[in-house]
Parts: sequence; structure tokens; C-alpha cells
Amino acid sequence: MRYGILIAFILAMGYGCQSESQEQTDNKLAYDTTVVVNEGQKIAKATFQTLSSNLQKAMQEGGVEYALEFCNVEAMPLTDSLSAHHDVSIRRASHKPRNPYNTADSLEAEVIKQYIKKLESGDKLQPVTYADENRITFHAPITITNSLCLNCHGKVNEDISKENLATIQELYPKDQATGFSMGDLRGVWTIRFPATHFDDADIQQLKE
Ligand code: HEC
Repeated sequence: MRYGILIAFILAMGYGCQSESQEQTDNKLAYDTTVVVNEGQKIAKATFQTLSSNLQKAMQEGGVEYALEFCNVEAMPLTDSLSAHHDVSIRRASHKPRNPYNTADSLEAEVIKQYIKKLESGDKLQPVTYADENRITFHAPITITNSLCLNCHGKVNEDISKENLATIQELYPKDQATGFSMGDLRGVWTIRFPATHFDDADIQQLKE
């Protein structure tokens, strides 16, 4: 009995090491880019619309200060409930985050760097997708296309009033998300799909 467990353990270790060293070439998901991009864009758009309609309602009800408090409490739960609804993980990441939780990780930072380069050379920003063994990741740019955003992400003392800046700093002592202008890259969407999200015809496990 004990031997059995030991042997199983050694086998698992050996197998684990082997599959790890082949990770880069084997077992990546192959997928139809158009299908993933369309699905990612649909979910990013729906999430943006939910967040921005709630934001606008809060601004109408109680001005920028109330909307700041509303976003502080509701932005995450709203995003999480949409993640659960679509059975994916949805996140907004930034190189200049307001909420430290949204700090870009190294892969997101690389995508952001490329997007900023493209913006500088006047190129159009396109979604990016990639896969590993069991999930597919979609990124799309978040740019400032509405002057409404500048109330809370624009230039201090120009777009953002003293009072609102004080509220921002009280809620987010490490805030970096000011100083943006129209057209700037504010961050990226990161949507992670489990392989089961798609039909078999659109996705398959690549095995050598
Ligand atoms: C009323 C103030 C307000 C307005 C207007 C506003 N935001 Fe924000 N924004 C916030 C707050 C507060 C957070 C942090 C939310 C949290 O804690 O999850 C945030 C977070 C974000 C994030 C996530 C990354 C981060 O920095 O944490 C993005 C991306 C973003 N906003 C983009 C926009 C865009 C684009 C617009 C215009 C359509 C906009 N915001 C308008 C207050 C605002």
C-alpha cells in the first residue's frame, strides 16, 4: 500500500517535470482568433456599458464626489458579477492605477507598452490574444475618448477640482490615475476564457 503511493508519487513527479519542460511547445490551445476577438470585444463592451451607465447615474445623482465614492465601492463588484455572468475573468489593468489591485502585471505592462508606442506613431490599436494550456487571454485598449473621464482622470487643478482631488487621495492614497488627456491610453481590458467557454470547433488542444 505504502509502496503503491510512493511509486505513484515518483511517477507523478517524473511526469510533472517532463511536461513542464515541454510546456512551451506542447499542449497549448489552438483557437480561432476571430471567434475569440469577437467574444472578447462583446464582453469588454458590455462591461464598459455597465460601468459607465452606473457612473453617469451616480454623477447625475450626487456629482463627481458621490460618483468617486460609488466607483470605490461598486467598480469591483460590478466587474466581478459580469465575470461570473459570462463565466470568464474580466479585469481592467493600468500602468497608472487608481486602485492598486488594477496594477498591470508583467504581461499586461508589455501590451500597454506596445499600445502606447502604436498611439505615438498614429497606428490603430488592435486587440491581442494568446493561449496557454488551459485558457485564452484577450486584451483590448482602454483609451480616454469621453471628456467625462477627465473629471476624475484628467489634469489636477485643470480638469480635477481641489475638492475632488482630496476625495480621490482620501479613497486612494497611492493614486496614479491623474494627468491623462483625451486620446491617452488609460489601461487595458484583460479577459481570460477557460477553454470550455468555446465550441470544440473553434478551439483544440495541440498535442504533438
Ligand atoms: C467619478 C470619477 C470617475 C470618472 C468620471 C471616471 N473614473 Fe475611472 N476610476 C474611478 C475610480 C474611483 C476608479 C477606481 C475603481 C476601483 O476602486 O476599482 C477608477 C478606475 C478606472 C480604471 C481601472 C484602473 C485603475 O486605475 O484602477 C480604468 C481603466 C478607468 N477608471 C477608466 C475610466 C474611463 C475610460 C473613464 C471615462 C469613460 C473613467 N474612468 C471615468 C473614477 C472615475
